[in-house]
Amino acid sequence: MTVLTIVHMGHPVLARPARPVADPTAPEIARLAADMVDTLAATTGVGLAAPQVGVDLRLVVLNAPAARGEAVPLTILINPWLEVLGRECESAYEGCLSLPGLTGVVPRAWRIRYGGVGLDGAAVVREAQGFHARLVQHECDHLDGRLYVSRMADLSTLAYSQQLLRLQAEAQPQDRPA
Ligand code: NI
Repeated sequence: MTVLTIVHMGHPVLARPARPVADPTAPEIARLAADMVDTLAATTGVGLAAPQVGVDLRLVVLNAPAARGEAVPLTILINPWLEVLGRECESAYEGCLSLPGLTGVVPRAWRIRYGGVGLDGAAVVREAQGFHARLVQHECDHLDGRLYVSRMADLSTLAYSQQLLRLQAEAQPQDRPA
């Protein structure tokens, strides 16, 4: 088990397009993917892109357990692509392991088709909507050197998650016995 260091906003690898993976079945790609799965598992995050561990390659890992809302199965996608379906957009809070502690409202396409190549070299094609589609859009943005803040329509919603949670707790009536 190898947990890699996650780089934060300000590292140049997060601000430039990543390179395509030449051979998705290469052993070093399998090793990188396994390390990224371990790294993601050590966080509260639901997705990780290779640039976030300082690697300039087009590879993402998705894994959203059902316990934290809508589930997205563990998926390793190499050279991913996505296509927006329909015109419907949804705005929702997003966070990023490369911007620890922060969250902001980001408009995203509601429905997409996406795909890429798995570690076995086989093509993957899926349709997704809502949270799942948002996650894929967020991770693919990383491969183009974009962070969610650059997608925000209203920067005044950028916030520290802990502050929002504190406000939420204060707003709720203390109806549970101690
Ligand atoms: Ni991110």
